[in-house]
Amino acid sequence: MIGGRSVDALESIGARCEVGKTGVTCALMATDLLKRLGLADHPRVRIGGSEGEGWVVTDNPATGKPIAAVRLDDAEAYEREIAGAVETFKSFRAVPAPVRGQIVRAIGEEFRKHKRDLGELVSLEVGKIRPEGEGEIQEIIDIAEFAVGLSRQLPGQVLPSERAKHRILEQWLPLGPVGVISAFNFPAAVWAWNAALATVCGDVTIWKPSLLTPLTALACNGIAERVSASMGHPGVFRLIMGLDSVIGERLIADRRIPLISATGSCRMGKRVGQVVADRLGRCLLELGGNNAVIVAEDADLKLAVPAIVFGAVGTAGQRCTTTRRLLVHEKIADDVCRRLVDGYKQIMGKIGDPLNPGTLVGPLINARSVDGYRHAVAEARKQGGQVLIGGEVVGREGHFVQPTVVRAPAGNKLDIAREETFAPILYVFTFKTIEEAIALQNGVDQGLSSAIFTNNLLTSEAFLAADGSGSDCGIANVNAGTSGAEIGGAFGGEKDTGGGRESGSDSWKVYMRRQTSVINYSGRLELAQGIRFGE
Ligand code: UN1
Repeated sequence: MIGGRSVDALESIGARCEVGKTGVTCALMATDLLKRLGLADHPRVRIGGSEGEGWVVTDNPATGKPIAAVRLDDAEAYEREIAGAVETFKSFRAVPAPVRGQIVRAIGEEFRKHKRDLGELVSLEVGKIRPEGEGEIQEIIDIAEFAVGLSRQLPGQVLPSERAKHRILEQWLPLGPVGVISAFNFPAAVWAWNAALATVCGDVTIWKPSLLTPLTALACNGIAERVSASMGHPGVFRLIMGLDSVIGERLIADRRIPLISATGSCRMGKRVGQVVADRLGRCLLELGGNNAVIVAEDADLKLAVPAIVFGAVGTAGQRCTTTRRLLVHEKIADDVCRRLVDGYKQIMGKIGDPLNPGTLVGPLINARSVDGYRHAVAEARKQGGQVLIGGEVVGREGHFVQPTVVRAPAGNKLDIAREETFAPILYVFTFKTIEEAIALQNGVDQGLSSAIFTNNLLTSEAFLAADGSGSDCGIANVNAGTSGAEIGGAFGGEKDTGGGRESGSDSWKVYMRRQTSVINYSGRLELAQGIRFGE
């Protein structure tokens, strides 16, 4: 027993225990971490707590054991938050945009200070390896910086009028309270992409996180709200956590919320899209991907192979941008497969505790995901796919699976590869011509990310063709993998991926409403289209 808790109980909350000379010494890492992040004594959190009416238990996927129970919101709490958000918006929209930018700047700085702890919390709750957990917090810092710059722009435009001494002006105005629905796999960064932009745009953010990651949400929203409140603007960052039937459905149907930004499965996105469309609201959907890398005959395999391995195996295959399909020129397919298998062999010994420095592959999020992996591998085998490496669930506590490469049978028919299985499974197909490769790449329902490896200008241009005949995805990279997008570009995709764009470029426009004004300084009334009325 240590501090009144058994080693088992301590390990269940993520503490790492070592057998030392003098007996068992436990690094009470997780409890300390939760303390440092203000979660240990949080009124909504019970460490190691168990499920009960109105509470959700968040597990450590590396052990399968509970970290804490978190209290959910009910319909009454929902109403309070939304009514509060509507009120806050009325005053917050009047704060000058550059001043709103200063709030986001201070928030970004606070995240910079807590990057290591927050990254560790992401590792604990999602199972990402430490560099990826911290990378996620880095995305928050990056988007905050982007948003600060944007706060002095939000550019409208002046357009010529057909009438003399008239001007057409276009300006961008705050939109209202914005609903952000986020998924477990990016439990912090995707909220921040939305929240940072929404804040400089003058909106209030209402965040509904995945119930698999409530601690990360409490910690991140807590930081943003604390900083904003300390600068005189409380209530700008709101969090509501609850079941879809209680909170999710209310949120998407709520006419007081002009924009719902939702990240998650295609199934979820279709529901959100339909309900929001029914009230003629606005949606930003960032849904599933089924991302392919094309390896052309002339590709530099020293670049391609590590990019494919990171894309397929990183975050244990649980990114929307994960490389799920590999399309290789038939002449080099055997060589590429051999190199991949060599690369994967080195990774097999590095599956484990995501917080161990040498680990490259952490666990899947839960037992259901492991079932999904098992099912996909079994289907692939049934459909004639050949498992080149991996294919097994790892026999240890937690939700670990082996990174897996499956080669499609001749004829390239492997239906399971049309589905997005959130696990590290890479399906390999072959092609003869670049046209065939692009058709294969585009031949799935999703359209998020894509990549080609080639040093041939013509092949690369076919992939990026200006007439739209190349990749049909929102992201199309050349000599860079499918995942790990920078925040500076617009992020999102087409078809079943939902069409939304968030993060950089001009994605901010969706968080504002556009207003067109004609200003007449001629001193006389002139109608457009040359109309003369009653003269
Ligand atoms: C997601 O998986 O929902 O491009 C987001 C990437 C990350 C974001 C992924 N920057 O892989």
